[in-house]
Formats: sequence, structure tokens, C-alpha cells
Amino acid sequence: MKIAEFAEDMYPILEPYLHPMDRTPFGDEFLRTKNHYEWYATISNMLCPKAICEIGVRFGYSAISMLWGAEKADPFFHVRYLGIDNESAEEGSSEFALKGIRKFTDNASTMKCDSLTTGHISEKFNLVHVDGMHTVPWLFDDLRFARAVLKNGGVILVDDMTLFPALMPPTKRWAKENGFDAEFIPTHRGMMLLK
Ligand SMILES: C[S@@+](CC[C@H](N)C(=O)[O-])C[C@H]1O[C@@H](n2cnc3c(N)ncnc32)[C@H](O)[C@@H]1O
Repeated sequence: MKIAEFAEDMYPILEPYLHPMDRTPFGDEFLRTKNHYEWYATISNMLCPKAICEIGVRFGYSAISMLWGAEKADPFFHVRYLGIDNESAEEGSSEFALKGIRKFTDNASTMKCDSLTTGHISEKFNLVHVDGMHTVPWLFDDLRFARAVLKNGGVILVDDMTLFPALMPPTKRWAKENGFDAEFIPTHRGMMLLK
């Protein structure tokens, strides 16, 4: 798998939606690396999802990248987006994120809660991104949640495998035990694709 030509540099696409906190000459490699959000756009473009769910929204950059990639595949369809974030990182981040996300779809909403307390969600999604609390107990719960809301044939993306190496073996183990193939993608922070 390689980054799609049209998604080789997501910085100019994301730039209008950056939070002032991330408009900094330091610490913005995750935005400028050309090996991070480019993958979200590419994978989403390949999958052409009708519905995306994400645990860990922050300011909406991965969401916008996925929605932008999906829009490139089907410009007329408004993808359903559900984001879950307890705003433990940045208070008010979901509201900020939604302003950008809604430029790409009018069918977006967020839930401000811990990913463990979403309650039952009857909707199903083709693409679920797990990028919330990066500890093993949460990881397992988030993966269970992801599987429960995943449509048949859908894909789960788990971020930060190299940033938090302790997450890699349990993710692979969970995938095996639950009938998913796990493919590691050497992105800026290491992504696992489960399908
Ligand atoms: C790494 S950031 C997400 C970045 C975002 N996916 C992006 O790439 O633009 C992680 C987010 O997860 C949220 N978070 C952390 N623990 C959480 C939990 N237990 N439940 C829900 N959200 C959580 C934080 O508030 C933060 O906004």
C-alpha cells in the first residue's frame, strides 16, 4: 500500500482547519511529516466509507483527512461521521473540530464522553478509527466497541503503535483472537489496519 498521489501532502488541505495551538514552528511534525494524515486520506479514499466512527477527535485533523479522502472517491455523498472524545486533552476541542468537519459533510456529530461510557450505539460504520486513550485496558475496550459498531467488511485503524510500542502486541493478539488480519503501516506514529 502506498500514499495516493493526490494525498501526498495533507498540510495545505488541513491548514485552514488548524487550531491556533498547532500553528507553531515547533512540535507540528505530525502535521508536516507527509507520512501521517496522508494515510488517513488514502485509506479512506480506497474504502470509500459511507460512515466513519472515531474515538479521539481532538481538533478533527484525522476526521477531516478521512472525509476529504472519501469525498475524492465520491464527491456527492455526505459521509456519516460520529466522533467520541472526552476532551481530556483539550476542553472544547470537539466543537472546534466540528466546524472543520462540517465543511466536508452535513451528517456529523460528536459525543463528549469517555469511550468506555458511550452506551449502546445501534449505528454501524465502515471505518472506525481508534485514537483515544493509549493504554492497554482502554485499547481492548475501544477495540471491542469498534468491532461492535463495524459493518461487515469494515476496517478498524488503530493509531500510535510506534509512539506507544506496548500497544502493538496486544493489538495483534486481539486481531488474531477476533478474526481480523492485522497489517502494520509504518506511518509517523505507526498505524495498525485491522480487516
Ligand atoms: C491523539 S488525540 C486524537 C487526535 C485525532 N485523532 C487527530 O489525529 O486529529 C487523542 C484524543 O483522545 C481523547 N481521549 C483520551 N482519552 C479518552 C477516553 N478515555 N475517551 C474518549 N476520548 C479520549 C483526548 O481528549 C484527545 O482529544
